[in-house]
Amino acid sequence: MSTLPLSRRAFVGALAALPFGRHGLAQEPPPPPSVLYRRAPPPLTAAGQVLNVMDFEPLARTALPPAHYAYIATGIDDDLTVVRNHAAFDHYEIRARRFTDETHLDTSLQLLGERWPSPLYLSAVSGMRAFFPEGEVAVARAARSRGTCQMLSSGSSSSLADVIRAADAAPWQQLYPTDDWEVTLGLIRRAESAGCPAIVVTLDGRTPHRVNETLLRAMRADSRDCRACHQNNSHDMWLKAPLFAGLDVGRVTALEPPDQSVAWFERLRGAVKRKLFAKGIVTAEDARLALQHGADAVIVSNHGGRNEETLRPTIECVPEVVAAVQGRIPVFVDGGIRRGTDVFKCLALGATAVGIGRPQAWGLAAFGQSGVEAVIDLLNRELTVIMQQAGTARLADITAACVQRASPA
Ligand code: FNR
Repeated sequence: MSTLPLSRRAFVGALAALPFGRHGLAQEPPPPPSVLYRRAPPPLTAAGQVLNVMDFEPLARTALPPAHYAYIATGIDDDLTVVRNHAAFDHYEIRARRFTDETHLDTSLQLLGERWPSPLYLSAVSGMRAFFPEGEVAVARAARSRGTCQMLSSGSSSSLADVIRAADAAPWQQLYPTDDWEVTLGLIRRAESAGCPAIVVTLDGRTPHRVNETLLRAMRADSRDCRACHQNNSHDMWLKAPLFAGLDVGRVTALEPPDQSVAWFERLRGAVKRKLFAKGIVTAEDARLALQHGADAVIVSNHGGRNEETLRPTIECVPEVVAAVQGRIPVFVDGGIRRGTDVFKCLALGATAVGIGRPQAWGLAAFGQSGVEAVIDLLNRELTVIMQQAGTARLADITAACVQRASPA
């Protein structure tokens, strides 16, 4: 399915029929990011009752004020890359095999010296106290209880120290390097001295001028006074996130430098003593450059469709990136992963592991720690089901032969 069946006008209309949470809306509800996010919330009181990951989205919408909900939901322009990230999983069908032994099913993998129970990690999601009072600390507790790796945003609203205490492990530290090299170095040193095993540099957020229309419309409809939490009404990460505290951010004007040339990446490589992952890679050309210039892993990501309207879903970018790095470094992928079958398809196309963004924020907003745990459990259970059904007892059995391109409808 390469074109959407509904016009934007049609799905805006569909959303208008929905109840919009306990915070209410005096005016119109914000338009939805997609047809995928228009369900009514199921009448549930505990995370364990939720049937699938998408059912957490309307629960989060009900729990959150409009602007915070829309901050999670928004893409850019017409939000079509958000939609396609998810919808593109339908481009692939699974070839299930029958004459196999599934007695000992094993979803675990050995990755960079660690044993993971499943090929799933929690990707960076900015400041999560906007969704639940304990924010990243609640996510860290969920990560600990499920043995899942957490990538902490530079914009985390909880301190790295608090997250490490809650997780009993240091997370991967996502890095917005900023356009001031001294700040870049300060952030790296802070994360490395706290014990973070990997620095994940985000490369797909170069414009300080991004306009997330869905978010902006919701902010206009949200009558709360944001200054209570956003000091001086500032949403600039470097002015409020604990990771930046004490650094001289006086010269910072953007989260990423305008010059992200190979020379800059090499300089960054030289500054990072731990593993360095490149997040936001969507082409073979950049995957090759990242590998040649010292990346320890690449993450196929378009930031959940939030920064540029390419209309290119990440699952469609995986094969070229995998081919480019030729197995020399792991390839991770995120974007639109909502089902165990989505995880399966990513692995079949050559990804090593997959990240989730919005689903953890939905789970957190709806139920706190137990919501995040339920999201992880649902994806892992569904992965187990499809592995059993497809005749792939181990992750290594999930190969290109397990999927085929869907035939045109
Ligand atoms: C993000 N993402 C993100 N990425 C990053 O490198 N640093 C960050 O601070 C954030 N912040 C952030 C906030 C919110 C609300 C969302 C939804 C996403 C992107 C994130 O790590 C991931 O790439 C995508 O979210 C994956 O797509 P899905 O799972 O949300 O569809």
